[in-house]
Amino acid sequence: MRMAKAWAPSNIAIIKYWGKRDVPLNLPAMGSLSVTLRGLHTETEARFEEEPGQTRVLVDGMSVEGTGLARVEKMLQVIRRQTGIDGRAVITSTTNFPVGAGIASSASGMAAVALAMSEAAGWDSTVEERSALARLGSGSACRSLYGGFVEWMPGVREDGWDSHGKVVAPADHWPLDVLVVVVDSGKKKTSSAAGMAQTASTSPFYTSWLERNAEDLEETRSAIAHRDFEQLARVGQRSALMMHACMMSGDPMLLYWRGGTIPVLEQVEHLQRSGSPCFFSMDAGPNVKVFFPPGEGAKQVALFEQLPGVECVLSSGVGPGGGIRE
Ligand code: DP6
Repeated sequence: MRMAKAWAPSNIAIIKYWGKRDVPLNLPAMGSLSVTLRGLHTETEARFEEEPGQTRVLVDGMSVEGTGLARVEKMLQVIRRQTGIDGRAVITSTTNFPVGAGIASSASGMAAVALAMSEAAGWDSTVEERSALARLGSGSACRSLYGGFVEWMPGVREDGWDSHGKVVAPADHWPLDVLVVVVDSGKKKTSSAAGMAQTASTSPFYTSWLERNAEDLEETRSAIAHRDFEQLARVGQRSALMMHACMMSGDPMLLYWRGGTIPVLEQVEHLQRSGSPCFFSMDAGPNVKVFFPPGEGAKQVALFEQLPGVECVLSSGVGPGGGIRE
């Protein structure tokens, strides 16, 4: 039997991935850029038994079937091809935050599984190859192998091996604070994969969304390089809102927001108007991530906690990338 343990954090995109150029390989139609989140992560143990058999995946003690299992199988196929390992795989993960609520649980989960399986199988591979493997499980997972500010290079190859993460700046370059304001910790109704397909084929704004991408990325890289919070806030908040405008304007509409979402956005707007720098971002879920300059987030936790509809506020910031546990 071979076994390895790994961990991987969640990440939140400032410039979003929402659209694929290749669905089975999770190749994106655009570049994206995220920060790796501190303290929100998945721990995974991967085991290969001697005898072949049905793959088993457990997340927080619950057996994973359907799409989740298929995503792991897709990564497993690559590992088996690369290493020749053929024993039954048993994967056990635990997370320390709500799964499927738009807090990038699939990113952290698939990244941890990719790392643990690669290591357990003895796959002699680079971090880029492991990132491309994690991408097969879930696109955004390829960014969770790296710490700090991370860009997902879309790549041009048809096989996807050049579509992986890359560090733009390490975590200590700009230790921003991030508050994750949870207004609904239940599972989302429409998966990102299904939502992206719907947006791409029906939203009248999808083409403009793609057209803006290169410029937004350039502006974000520059904001990070110069630690220019105002510029980052402008481009980051706009990217999140543009993505949601695309989602909402598709047919049928895709509305991830809930009642509790609005008071959080209004609070951010109020802080901005009163001269406190901050901005929000949201993924495919109702929860809101609020970014602050270094050291400014902790002071605002209570303010967000008392808003109507808020379940809890998780304090995070820019953290390290995932890796193998010894
Ligand atoms: C809104 O990576 O979950 O969080 O590749 O289909 O698994 P799949 O999608 P996923 O989509 C994440 C979308 C997003 C934006 C982002 O993280 O860039």
